[in-house]
Amino acid sequence: MSQTALITGATAGIGYELARLFAGDGYELVLVARDAARLERVAAEMQSLSHAAVRVIPADLSQPQAPWFLFEQVRAADCLVNNAGFGLCGPFASNDLRQELDMIQVNVTSLVHLTKLFLPGMLERRAGRVLNVASTAAFQPGPLMAIYYASKAFVLSFTEAIAEELRGTGVTVTTLCPGPTATEFQKRARIENTRLVRDKLLGMMSARQAAEAGYRGMMRGQVLVVPGVMNRVGVESVRLAPRALVRRLTRKLQET
Ligand SMILES: NC(=O)c1ccc[n+]([C@@H]2O[C@H](COP(=O)([O-])OP(=O)(O)OC[C@H]3O[C@@H](n4cnc5c(N)ncnc54)[C@H](OP(=O)(O)O)[C@@H]3O)[C@@H](O)[C@H]2O)c1
Repeated sequence: MSQTALITGATAGIGYELARLFAGDGYELVLVARDAARLERVAAEMQSLSHAAVRVIPADLSQPQAPWFLFEQVRAADCLVNNAGFGLCGPFASNDLRQELDMIQVNVTSLVHLTKLFLPGMLERRAGRVLNVASTAAFQPGPLMAIYYASKAFVLSFTEAIAEELRGTGVTVTTLCPGPTATEFQKRARIENTRLVRDKLLGMMSARQAAEAGYRGMMRGQVLVVPGVMNRVGVESVRLAPRALVRRLTRKLQET
């Protein structure tokens, strides 16, 4: 019998490429995003790659009930991919509170909630894989994108902690920390003109490359995946540099 993968944010960017990888390996897919028409188009495309069932569930993960709703519809998944997320740039004091709270709900709360709901079934079966998409933003504070960076720091810390708790259970949890990746993310976060993105200071990976690294790492049960040499160097240098310097440099990167 086919295994099932539930993927949030499966209609674009990294989530879309992850869905293609699961489809290629014969997984049944449950694809989640808000735009129902786009979900249907992506589902038809995935169906052409695989004979396994493809199901779509339109849901807005900024709504607190969305994880319950998804769980009630699906009940069990062999792989859970918490990929949906978005960013917002600008000074914290003037950014829109509603958008920031929605970001915390999507990037953090719904990720925790879905993991909480699907994990017991995986533990009972002594098998399962969770992939949580964080970012290289998780490794330092991000002036001018404060909530986004903090949300990804949460995902990294949370995932590493429960990965350790789950050791030996047959269930693995992986966090994928991509650096800048060419997707719709930059436009939505309004960061197309920041030095980091415009000048490609840390390079710019394709969504396919980021997804492949995450998929491979998840299948191996690796806890942390930072794809690309530039991103790994960036993450390591942050660990060694004085924090004040890191804050200032990150601010420079986030400026236009
Ligand atoms: N691109 C980068 O540079 C980069 C770097 C590091 C980490 N990441 C992380 O990678 C993940 C995927 O990002 P991406 O770059 O692939 O972004 P993307 O191209 O903008 O795709 C985002 C996906 O998430 C869905 N989504 C957004 N808000 C949602 C909501 N409220 N409820 C349900 N689904 C929602 C979108 O579909 P709908 O709009 O139809 O809902 C879309 O399918 C995110 O967690 C992001 O933080 C990205």
